[in-house]
Amino acid sequence: MINYRLFTALTSELAQGHLITFPGSALLLENQLRDNPLIAELVAQAEQGKLADTRFGCGPFSRITLLPLSVWQDSLTDSLLTHIRPLFAAPVCEDVLLDCSDIDDTVLAKTLRFLFNQAHKLTDLGLKTVGERGVTLRRVNAFCAGTDASRLERVFAQQQAIANGMVAARRLADIPSEQCTPQFVVEEAQRLCATVPNLRCEVLDESAIVEQGLGLLHAVGKGSSRPPRLLAIHYDGASSGPVRSYVGKGITFDTGGLWLKEGAGMYTMKYDMCGAANVLGLMLSIAELKLPVRVMGVLALAENAIGPNAMQPGSVARACNGMTVEINNTDAEGRLVLSDAIAWASKRHEQTRYIIDLATLTGAVVKALGYELSGLMTQDNTLRSALTVAGEQSGDEVWSLPLDARLKKQTESAIADLCNTPTNNAAISASAAWLLHHFCPAYIPWAHLDVSGTALWREGGKSVASGRPIPLLMQHLLNDLAVEE
Ligand code: BES
Ligand code: MN
Ligand code: ZN
Repeated sequence: MINYRLFTALTSELAQGHLITFPGSALLLENQLRDNPLIAELVAQAEQGKLADTRFGCGPFSRITLLPLSVWQDSLTDSLLTHIRPLFAAPVCEDVLLDCSDIDDTVLAKTLRFLFNQAHKLTDLGLKTVGERGVTLRRVNAFCAGTDASRLERVFAQQQAIANGMVAARRLADIPSEQCTPQFVVEEAQRLCATVPNLRCEVLDESAIVEQGLGLLHAVGKGSSRPPRLLAIHYDGASSGPVRSYVGKGITFDTGGLWLKEGAGMYTMKYDMCGAANVLGLMLSIAELKLPVRVMGVLALAENAIGPNAMQPGSVARACNGMTVEINNTDAEGRLVLSDAIAWASKRHEQTRYIIDLATLTGAVVKALGYELSGLMTQDNTLRSALTVAGEQSGDEVWSLPLDARLKKQTESAIADLCNTPTNNAAISASAAWLLHHFCPAYIPWAHLDVSGTALWREGGKSVASGRPIPLLMQHLLNDLAVEE
């Protein structure tokens, strides 16, 4: 975990590490750093709109980076992160001093999450031989105006907790699927939750899944030698009140089933459990912040494998709410496990404030919205606007796709109540959401987030887990708690 400290003046303690600031900053002016000829040169460079960076002759700092002010105020295109990300590929010191005296709130939140997320590296999995370990970032120091200090203290604590949840989720999602099986996810969750007060795990093994009638989850998982699990993580930060529920798609590997994917499309499918991993991460963040609320996270865990017991196209399975689904396409497995998990979650508690599911559900959402925006589908306008606003505030944004009864034909089946894929290629992402809506009773507000484009972060042609949409969901929860007060 990476720590932080806030300062309202440049003390000698702070005058070390990697300073990141901008030309007109009070930090430079008040401390006469501007008079230093080297810094004056950097200031001139940044004033021309360029990144100015030096590691030499900048004592007492180990590195000084100056960025144009416009970059600090641009929350839309992530330009601050684009500039500093390459510098943190190989940090030169353990401390960073971030100038927070004039920074946009969303840019700050994103930057802090980026810095606190440096606690996870792919090489931490121990699968790659690494030579001498380089320097790692250990502490984020911040310079801010005295009048901002108490507000920023809260922002830092929140973003640190969010990032810690993201790190746990990303680490789990990055583990290759032959190790990261449904049971492995359960054990990791149990291990992580055991150290945190107020978190409790409830596990349904394969026989409990069958006994409780989760026939869709079972249909997806039964073809694998690594059996399915349903994991509910309960957080009781309050002794009463409605439960807020999150449901995550946890396909530990998606081969497509008998409707087999081709190799290139299958390559990243160990990440098809990002929804579930992020539900776990969110629960850890909520518990770390000790929020006074009841929350349930449900992880629908299965491997969509091929084999003699794999579900077959044309078969029909029954969900725990009694509805039957014809499985015409075995590669549309996410909506099957989610349907059961949503129905199960809706029955688990007497009073549910909302259910939000998150899933790498369709490749089509990437075609529609790209890699920056998660797809939001809901019929509840209150939830829609709350999630949209929280997305803008956190910088973890969503965009709505339409969801209503005009999609009815997309899920009609001759043999069952529903079918899992339409025979056409129309409105693929929303058709999946239309199927899901049948499994949440109308009296519970429900929203679906398709995170196929956002749950992975793509850099240099490689994909790794991003931890999104944990920041969005935490911001939404914090706002929702403030509304309730
Ligand atoms: N896990 C995939 C969706 C996916 C694809 C996520 C690519 C991230 C990148 C999902 O289970 C799937 O296979 N969806 C199908 C739906 C289709 C059969 C209606 C798809 O997107 O092709
Ligand atoms: Mn699939
Ligand atoms: Zn899938």
